[in-house]
Amino acid sequence: RRPGRTRAVLPGEIGVRPAPTVLRQSIIVPTYNERDNVPALLARLANALPHDGTEIVFVDDSTDGTPEVIVAHAAHYPIAITVHHRDQGVGGLGGAVVEGMRIARGEWIVVMDADLQHPPEIVPDLIAAGLRDGADLVVGSRYASGGSTGGLADGYRRLVSRGSTLLVKTLFRNNLLSVSDPMSGLFAIRSSSLDSGQLRPLGYKILLELIVRNRPGRIVEVPYTFQARHAGESKSTAAEGIRFLKHVGGLRFGAGRLRMLAFALIGISGLLPNQAVLWLLLTCTGVHYTAAAVVANVVAVVWNFALADTLLYRNHRSRGPVSRFSRFLLMGNADLLLRIPLLALLVSGLSLGVLLGNLLTLLASFVVRFLISDRLIYLT
Ligand code: GDD
Ligand code: MN
Repeated sequence: RRPGRTRAVLPGEIGVRPAPTVLRQSIIVPTYNERDNVPALLARLANALPHDGTEIVFVDDSTDGTPEVIVAHAAHYPIAITVHHRDQGVGGLGGAVVEGMRIARGEWIVVMDADLQHPPEIVPDLIAAGLRDGADLVVGSRYASGGSTGGLADGYRRLVSRGSTLLVKTLFRNNLLSVSDPMSGLFAIRSSSLDSGQLRPLGYKILLELIVRNRPGRIVEVPYTFQARHAGESKSTAAEGIRFLKHVGGLRFGAGRLRMLAFALIGISGLLPNQAVLWLLLTCTGVHYTAAAVVANVVAVVWNFALADTLLYRNHRSRGPVSRFSRFLLMGNADLLLRIPLLALLVSGLSLGVLLGNLLTLLASFVVRFLISDRLIYLT
């Protein structure tokens, strides 16, 4: 073994063997309940890579004892292998990878899945391609010529994969000119071109995050065939699909602007209960239409609160539920009181037409309500 400084074991980390200081490659493997895949993965990685100069960093969010299995099997190989177990699982797969990047010390950082859908034998090819072509980033691609989606189970998954690839290729055209498989979970990056502090991953698509925010220099691809899962099941869910859209929207338009768009859509959806309640009260009761309009407005505000609170601000609920609700209600009703004097000012003061004036007050109130909600109620 090369002589070198050894490294203290981090909190939450199970140290298996200290790594030598000079490393050619760090392999980062995110794991979430992959107990039955880890032994074969380690065997194949150890077989494919030089034992000196390699470290394998597992970043784990499992509840099935995966770390213990890793530790037990790591003892068979003279390779530096560490497991960093997280209790909170922040950021999901992408968060785990970024945490691994902060720990990794190799000249090259390779990211791959634990379920052997990414053949471990390709790792040396990724790094060789990077060195040969002077690239900062090497993407393992299913869509480059010579690659294939072989293991993608059914037509539905194939369609989702093609569709989401097309979406991001369109939204990030300039970043992805030389990338045929931006959704790939297999890639190698030269660590000198990596700035993990800039990454804000959300879910699965860490490669896209990295390309857009770190803007690596030259990007090349190595084709590979996506394999069937070795054991267990995919951890991707429908919620992961929503997370993906949020991630892509935030990456493209900025998280603040994306929230503003969602806030607007939720606001527009409030027209539905507003009109419905107004109609109900007018047809079924004898209340005056102005009183009915006030009630309809309250119902719409409650509707907006329910949607905003669960869909938009789920991760920003630092205030208690009563506090959030009462502030939201106050905001929604104060809006009505403030908009009428503003309308009067615009119409009689600036002699604007009523319709134009009303539209302006609605727009102004929308921006003000968004800012109040975003900054004062949910503290984003
Ligand atoms: N630490 C951690 N935390 N690991 C996770 C988490 C998490 O929350 N969620 C998933 N993983 C790990 C899994 O244990 C596995 O090693 C890897 O991330 C990929 O998860 P899968 O559930 O197997 O994903 P997939 O097969 O549906 O999708 C993969 O392949 C696609 C095609 O290349 C991913 O790599 C996608 O990003 C990729 O687009
Ligand atoms: Mn998989």
